[in-house]
Amino acid sequence: MPQMPFTATAANAALMEHHTLARGWQLRDLFAQDPARAQTLSLEVAGLFLDYSKNRLDRSTIALLVRLAQECGVEKHREAMFAGERINTTEQRAVLHTALRAPRGQSLRLDGVDINAQVHAVLDRMAAFSERVRTGTWRGYSDLPITDIVNIGIGGSDLGPKMACQALRPYVHPRLTPHFISNADGHDLAALLPHLNPATTLFIVASKTFTTAETMMNAQTARAWFLRQHPHPADLEKHFVAASTNTEAVQAFGIAPENMFPFWDWVGGRYSLWSAIGLPVMLAIGAERFTHMLAGAHALDRHFQQAPLVQNMPVLLALIGIWNRNYFHDATLSIAPYHEDLKHFPAYLQQLEMESNGKQVNRDGVPLEACTCPVIWGDVGTNGQHAYFQLLHQGCDIVPVDFIAALKPSHDFPGHHTALLANCFAQSEALMLGKTSDEARNDLRAEGKSSEAIAALLPHKIFPGNRPSNTLLLDELSPARLGALIALYEHKTFVQGVIWGVNSFDQWGVELGKVLAKKIHAELADASVSNQHDSSTLGLIARARAVAPAKPDGGNISRAEPFP
Ligand code: F6P
Repeated sequence: MPQMPFTATAANAALMEHHTLARGWQLRDLFAQDPARAQTLSLEVAGLFLDYSKNRLDRSTIALLVRLAQECGVEKHREAMFAGERINTTEQRAVLHTALRAPRGQSLRLDGVDINAQVHAVLDRMAAFSERVRTGTWRGYSDLPITDIVNIGIGGSDLGPKMACQALRPYVHPRLTPHFISNADGHDLAALLPHLNPATTLFIVASKTFTTAETMMNAQTARAWFLRQHPHPADLEKHFVAASTNTEAVQAFGIAPENMFPFWDWVGGRYSLWSAIGLPVMLAIGAERFTHMLAGAHALDRHFQQAPLVQNMPVLLALIGIWNRNYFHDATLSIAPYHEDLKHFPAYLQQLEMESNGKQVNRDGVPLEACTCPVIWGDVGTNGQHAYFQLLHQGCDIVPVDFIAALKPSHDFPGHHTALLANCFAQSEALMLGKTSDEARNDLRAEGKSSEAIAALLPHKIFPGNRPSNTLLLDELSPARLGALIALYEHKTFVQGVIWGVNSFDQWGVELGKVLAKKIHAELADASVSNQHDSSTLGLIARARAVAPAKPDGGNISRAEPFP
């Protein structure tokens, strides 16, 4: 049966009508009318507290949005995902990242294979390896323990472990420093390698496909660097391991099967942190704490599977996003973690949400009428307050914000954490309340300004308010809470994908860039190659060639390994 767009549901018609009322609501009035508003519009799950009361909605809005979720088949799709159906239809793959955090012994079979046993066998190998590296029994070629771990990967093979290692930095083993190399740009490796001792460095080549151009190029460069310092290929095995699904390519690169940590095609790149791709995290924080992270995510999985939609945190977060995106037409969502350790979380969510749901056709390939994923962006508070929050308060666009904070800090410097939380709460309050012209005038009078000064300043001091936000509070930023937080956004993304009608698990848009870059790379490396381009692209190619003329064995560009 062809897929029905959400815009054709009865719930959507009711929501459109409801929106004609809701768009006139003022949040400050809704709070004044209902002292219990925050209590009604909040919930707590797995150590995460979500206050969604500062959104332009009430309980009747939520009821209609839940109807929308039901009419779009969210429950049916959720069951299909957890059961291992091939819901990634363009690649004919199951989507089972939830199986990666299921406790040992849970029965889950895919094509007759016990995948719970497979998952735990790899986790056990990762744990044994991590233990050896952490205790120093895994030694480099000069019999010294490992001090630096360099993860070479990109996209899901980088953003998840990088974000988690930063988020959990108070738990990182004191002897180990994790580093992350992702970009084709060699500046990063060039800056890092001189600070590393090859004898105490462990490289993890992390790539689901083991064909990704950037990763292969960086891995080859790292390997060549290692062999230049220590020309003994037999010792590579002490310093290079891999996380991948592609055994042949890993072996062809020269990494032995016993140094490869496998995962499976039913793990999407941006959902792979829980698999062998999480190896740098396990090395950094230890196997036990990694297990806590998995358990936090699993607690959220169970909640997502079992809680009624109206009390289901990821479903609510998704529905509020749909309300803002498709009814209020807000084009972006800002992520504001008030926690320096979550500084990579906005970038992680960019891939999770935008690569999953940045689509324009539905699962049947039919063009969509409604907009899908908003632009996800953001940075840590309070830094953002001194950069772009001006626009959030007084700019022409309304930008919904997800504020995220931990109640307990992991440091004991007096005053800092209270100030941080005060800023976080003050921002969401100010965005919601705004400042009326009467309030602004009274403030200016209280400052003793003259009537002329008040008249001149008043328009600048008015804040429209009514700007929506969610606030997510973690009791602390522990491995378990981080696991729950990530799983929350994974399931939010899934629910939105179901309602928008897209396949959230493919990423064909990324392929275009790969093909185009290959063509131009050949032209930069070899002047005799020429393809048809527009005049702008031809001009850019000519400028690059003029600076680094292509020669068979000279010049910066031609010296680079060919982009695989
Ligand atoms: O960016 C496209 C993508 O396929 C992502 O989905 C993935 O996380 C990334 O490339 C890296 O892929 P791989 O792990 O296969 O190197």
